[in-house]
Amino acid sequence: MLNIKTVIAEGLSSLIESMDMEQIYNMLEIPPNDDMGDVALPCFKLSKTLKKAPAAIAEELSGKFIKSQYIDKVESLSGYLNFFVNKKEFICSVVEDVLAANDRYGSSSSGDGKTVVIDFSAPNIAKPFHVGHLRSTVIGNSLYKIFSFSGYKCVGVNHLGDWGTQFGKLIVAYKRWGDQERVKQGQIKELMSLYVKFHEEAELNPELDDEAREWFVKMERGDSEALRLWQWFKDISMEEFQRVYDVLGVSFDSYAGESFYNDKMQAVIDELETKELLKESQGARIIELEQYGMPPCIILKKDGSTLYATRDITAAIYRKNTYAFEKCIYVTGAAQSLHFQQWFKVMELMGYSWSGNLTHVPFGIVSLGGEKLSTRKGKVVLLEEILSEAIKKTTEVIEAKNPGLKDKEKVARQIGVGAVIFSDLSSNRIKDVSFSWEEVLNFDGETGPYVQYTHARTCSLIKKSGMELTGSFNAGLLTAKEEYRLVKTLYSFPGIVSQAMEELEPSIVTRYLVDLAQDFNRFYHELPVLVEDHELQAARLALVAASGITLANGLRLIGIDAPERV
Ligand code: ARG
Repeated sequence: MLNIKTVIAEGLSSLIESMDMEQIYNMLEIPPNDDMGDVALPCFKLSKTLKKAPAAIAEELSGKFIKSQYIDKVESLSGYLNFFVNKKEFICSVVEDVLAANDRYGSSSSGDGKTVVIDFSAPNIAKPFHVGHLRSTVIGNSLYKIFSFSGYKCVGVNHLGDWGTQFGKLIVAYKRWGDQERVKQGQIKELMSLYVKFHEEAELNPELDDEAREWFVKMERGDSEALRLWQWFKDISMEEFQRVYDVLGVSFDSYAGESFYNDKMQAVIDELETKELLKESQGARIIELEQYGMPPCIILKKDGSTLYATRDITAAIYRKNTYAFEKCIYVTGAAQSLHFQQWFKVMELMGYSWSGNLTHVPFGIVSLGGEKLSTRKGKVVLLEEILSEAIKKTTEVIEAKNPGLKDKEKVARQIGVGAVIFSDLSSNRIKDVSFSWEEVLNFDGETGPYVQYTHARTCSLIKKSGMELTGSFNAGLLTAKEEYRLVKTLYSFPGIVSQAMEELEPSIVTRYLVDLAQDFNRFYHELPVLVEDHELQAARLALVAASGITLANGLRLIGIDAPERV
């Protein structure tokens, strides 16, 4: 695969003896505009080592640099050495690379088969799957795809919130105010209203909280009635979650949630005791973290029951032993940052050298018209509602624009769901998002449907041409600036994938796709593809095909389908 920076770094390394190729490679930059060349070396970075002024270095190197197949002009300009690529060679190589790699274009083997555990989605049983969990699900799913595409072996874990005091609350609420038939009918919604009722009532009658804690203690001790109710709530919830995952096209390698660690926590608690990390505090067992500027990490409550952190610590050790991971990534809201900092510290104090390979990937709050979503107060937008609304709206658009479309229902689902996922992944994950129907369902502008539509346009052009794509074409005919620009964008895709992986930031791919779609559409509007001249048509079609491949690959990496017709 052509890498212009490597070509240049190679050329420079024989001229700059005091530095190796990698150092030179890392100094190279992409200039802000095309008249400054395609790649630039800021020579001030070399002044200290070479003991010369940047301008003199640039001047000297420009005289010595040996031009090659890909670089046909080198210029020195105010301390920068600017490299200009041979457009024809560049276009030819890039388009050929994309066509040859096809659905692997952008992939790499940088992960070397090492394992990454990605802990994502993790909704809480008996609570609805809301837009906050949607964020975790789509970010995690995209990271899974990006890491896999980069040569890692990924293990996607759904660390379900299926254990904890909240089940005690639910049991109390069900036993007091619940009704089997109503739960069967209302499913999660009914469970949720029981949960909400519990909180309302507990405000007036705090004894309910004690009762709830007792029920959770019973669960942890294996009480059969408690466990039977818990299992029932879990089954109801899983059914709904599964429906959402099916619509989103997301799956997991493991559903080992918090309850999975119930019988594994004692060993870890013993280990913490042996390592003398636990301390008594008002009857609870805690780990003091004051000297690290954090509140203590509570491991056992005074009634002997375990906590979220106890289960996370146990899960990390279990995963390390089971998967021998290189990295373990946790995708949750930024509100949990302190929780992760605390127990990551505990792992370090326990002496696990790999604790540095645990990474929290936080994301911003999802609010609804500026108000934080809270299950307790019942203020949630159910994800299923959002998805079905998006699909409904897409169906209306298709009915209006293209009523004869084949597989209408399937395409409406692909585009409606794509719109929701794309909007969720369009800004940096750490930014808060205010959920609004208009924005999610806006099909114009920088959206998923726009990118999907552009991809479908590439497919229909190829189909219409009736031409067989052989991979051989005359790149010398692609001389328009729109063509060159499009090729440059195609060329940057592998770098975009690795950047998104390093920064754990799927929005880098999302934004790239908007740029690519815009570059493609600019090309498409300026230059006719289906022309009389066969050779020209073949060359432009090759570019169309390369664009279609790259759009589809990028969409796949953010978990969105790329239908051929819309
Ligand atoms: N169930 C949690 C929540 O809804 C997220 C769990 C994230 N994973 C973890 N290992 N803590 O907030």
